[in-house]
Amino acid sequence: MKVVSFVNMKGGVAKTTLSINVADCMSRRHELKVLIIDLDPQFNATQALVHGTDYVKHIETGGHTIVDVFDDTPRVQASSVNGESPIEPVELEQVLPMKLNSNMYLLPGALDLYRLDMSAGQGREHRLKRYINTIKDSELFDIVIIDTPPTPSTWMSAALIASDYYLVPVKPEPLSVTGIDLLRNVINRVKENYSLALECLGVVLTIADERETVYKNAVHYLDSADFWKGKRFNKSLLKRTEVARLQGSQKLVLDTNDPKSKMAIADITREALQHLGLEE
Ligand SMILES: Nc1ncnc2c1ncn2[C@@H]1O[C@H](COP(=O)(O)OP(=O)(O)OP(=O)(O)O)[C@@H](O)[C@H]1O
Ligand SMILES: [Mg+2]
Repeated sequence: MKVVSFVNMKGGVAKTTLSINVADCMSRRHELKVLIIDLDPQFNATQALVHGTDYVKHIETGGHTIVDVFDDTPRVQASSVNGESPIEPVELEQVLPMKLNSNMYLLPGALDLYRLDMSAGQGREHRLKRYINTIKDSELFDIVIIDTPPTPSTWMSAALIASDYYLVPVKPEPLSVTGIDLLRNVINRVKENYSLALECLGVVLTIADERETVYKNAVHYLDSADFWKGKRFNKSLLKRTEVARLQGSQKLVLDTNDPKSKMAIADITREALQHLGLEE
């Protein structure tokens, strides 16, 4: 089982869009059993995959979320049916993801993640790795994809500690491109602090227009900078209104009638699987 985090300290660079669509393509086109973990308190990945009423039902019937991985103290659950009821913490082995279809599962995010004290020194940043170890033993999944928040936080550290690889979606804008060197510094510090054998799976240019000078400049920078040379995916996620329109619809790129975006997701997924050694 391989674990990949999609990370960037910049907001709005398509981390969520790319992570859920690559996960979907891995499960649909490559028959891999995929678990998506929504580690962002904004829980956009969850909102993109699960309809609001199904999510509320999941929570009200005691379904698990990422909060169950991090929270080891009793808490109170508000419900429209039962009012307020206490919830005891769950053993990590018992945290159950939601089944989205036969090959794709989601450990949903939750706004409650904001409530947790994630300050350093609590040791909570290790809990996701411990959870991943329990599912590794179960052999239920071939791949775990983690969508992360756009801030260097304990959540991002938790994702990196739990991962074998990180993938960086980058928007072809001058500040976003040079920003990934700052990201690399942050990642290196986490790698050193926790002695991680974490590898960069690559950089994907996103929301891109290949005709623009900023795109060509971004390609040039990534292809010549010492660390990033050879790490740029050949295929970029192009800027498409068809993709922007998917927000809040629980539809994925492979469900659209946009051949360009579908091909981009298929190619990016294939490249990721090749780098992971899961595809020739
Ligand atoms: N290929 C695309 N073409 C056009 N718009 C896109 C594309 N991919 C993503 N977007 C839009 O860009 C915005 C940011 O995307 P997304 O939420 O995936 O980014 P993010 O990096 O996860 O953001 P955050 O940092 O808030 O988590 C969204 O409005 C999304 O619909
Ligand atoms: Mg996001």
